[in-house]
Amino acid sequence: MEPDLHLSSKTCAPGSAHRGAMSTTTHTTHPASHPASPEGHDWREAGEAWGSGAVDWACLFEHYAVNVLLVTMDRLHVGEGTRLLDIACGSGLGIRFAEAAGAETAGIDAAESLVRVAQARSPRSDVRHGDMFALPWADASFDAVTSVNGIWGDCEAALAEAYRVLRPGGRIAISFWGRGRLDLRPVFKVFAANSPESHQQGMRRTNNIARDGVAEAMLASAGFEVLERGSRLSMVEWPDADTAWRAIATLGPAQPALRNVGPEALRPQVMAVLDGLVDDSGIYRFCNDQEYVVAQKPT
Ligand SMILES: C[S@@+](CC[C@H](N)C(=O)[O-])C[C@H]1O[C@@H](n2cnc3c(N)ncnc32)[C@H](O)[C@@H]1O
Repeated sequence: MEPDLHLSSKTCAPGSAHRGAMSTTTHTTHPASHPASPEGHDWREAGEAWGSGAVDWACLFEHYAVNVLLVTMDRLHVGEGTRLLDIACGSGLGIRFAEAAGAETAGIDAAESLVRVAQARSPRSDVRHGDMFALPWADASFDAVTSVNGIWGDCEAALAEAYRVLRPGGRIAISFWGRGRLDLRPVFKVFAANSPESHQQGMRRTNNIARDGVAEAMLASAGFEVLERGSRLSMVEWPDADTAWRAIATLGPAQPALRNVGPEALRPQVMAVLDGLVDDSGIYRFCNDQEYVVAQKPT
């Protein structure tokens, strides 16, 4: 079976950074795992994994999403005054796109270190450290919601939360790794092969959100009307092997393998894959199909 391309691993430091003026509920503490979370998902553990290389993620990987962000900002009609929430916002590239269009933004992510980067980049944004399965905003707070590769196959409960915080007529766009070219597939196989058995079992979970109709069915069961499904190329480039390795080593699913076998053992196996992606100019070009689905909360 294929490894789960969205799998995120375990624990994040406690604490939350509640800022900004958008209406809020009073969540000041969070349980380790919200009752509606998928089995085995601990948001703090996921945040610790994704946040372990926050600086390198923010500078060397995050721009993988520019093409899908361009199309989703358009489809969500993000403009002057749009109230937009980015779920699993990472270090905040989606927030920056929305701000550039004139939106009032908010974001949430499980990785405290990524949240800090997003807050530094976008000080006026209401970016919080927390769990997408228990959003700390009141009903109907937003006109638009995005989640760029933050929602995976069994995250119906996160979509229910997104539905709750959207106003009637508001739109959501989610993206995920698609069904076309995926340079990351052999890399994730290396991660899985080097992870402890317990993590391998998790990584073998089916990456079913990309399958025909699955994302649409998840959105529909949360109450949304599906408007569109599309796909964009995700391309990240690195100038040399060291930079490529640093970028790849930030990924959440790399962390169990790094802890299990160490970077000395993991790096050569990953680079054996990435070395096959170098072009005539010496650029490491990492290309992946990124699909998106746009939906609307009925009026
Ligand atoms: C693939 S990264 C995408 C980050 C960002 N959307 C981007 O595209 O740059 C997945 C993100 O999901 C976050 N995450 C995982 N589980 C979460 C949860 N339960 N609540 C909030 N964020 C979560 C991780 O911390 C990580 O930043």
